Amino acid sequence: MRLEDILFSQGFGTRRVCAGLVQQGYVSVNGEVQEDPGAFFDPENLKFKVQGTEWPYFDRAYLMLHKPTGTECSQKPSTWPSIYTLLPSPLRTRPQKAAVQGVQAVGRLDQDTTGLLLLTDDGKFIHRMSSPKHHMPKVYEVTTKHEITHGQVEKLLAGVVLDDSPKPVKAAACEKVSDTHLRLTLTEGKYHQVKRMLAAVGNRVEGLHRSAIGNLQLPEDLAPGQWRWILPSELEKYFKA
Ligand code: URA
Repeated sequence: MRLEDILFSQGFGTRRVCAGLVQQGYVSVNGEVQEDPGAFFDPENLKFKVQGTEWPYFDRAYLMLHKPTGTECSQKPSTWPSIYTLLPSPLRTRPQKAAVQGVQAVGRLDQDTTGLLLLTDDGKFIHRMSSPKHHMPKVYEVTTKHEITHGQVEKLLAGVVLDDSPKPVKAAACEKVSDTHLRLTLTEGKYHQVKRMLAAVGNRVEGLHRSAIGNLQLPEDLAPGQWRWILPSELEKYFKA
């Protein structure tokens, strides 16, 4: 693949901008500055540097973000800064593939929810992870206002009716960790689902943190606001349907 096409595919701007970056000596491959935008490289496992920052080549980008509180999962946020401002701009401007322009969040978390969020430009992956058919478990650490009772845990496991559908929604798992800490596993992703389920059993969410999706736990060393690549080879291990 031509070097300017490699840069273009990874979100470094139009082909013209990418060619300019190369011609101006801003791009190095295997430690050597490359000034020919047409130079050929096998993109598989390629690492290159643009203005001193190292980038791995990925046909599709998959990443995890530790969403901090006070951020919105929208491209056009209304009140709080967008989570997309936490990502380097090439990730947001990767060229459009299968209707996805740049990386997109897989589902959304509320402004005040923290924790694990996946982002990708792979439309099929977004669809698979969001589809209720796939029952992808998501684990939430819930801090409640009132002490959690045994009855509330039983009700969450048995199913509660929310205001938008007569069909009860159930927690796939529900563990009381302490008086006001509940670990709740859901396999769907309805709007404000955790908050509405807790309200339906007579409690109230004071703090919400997503600690895992599928087999992927939010890494302890990934601080709020930080992101990390997920390698395509890790997808099967983390998100096997
Ligand atoms: N359920 C909620 O109520 N809010 C979230 O952010 C995620 C799940």
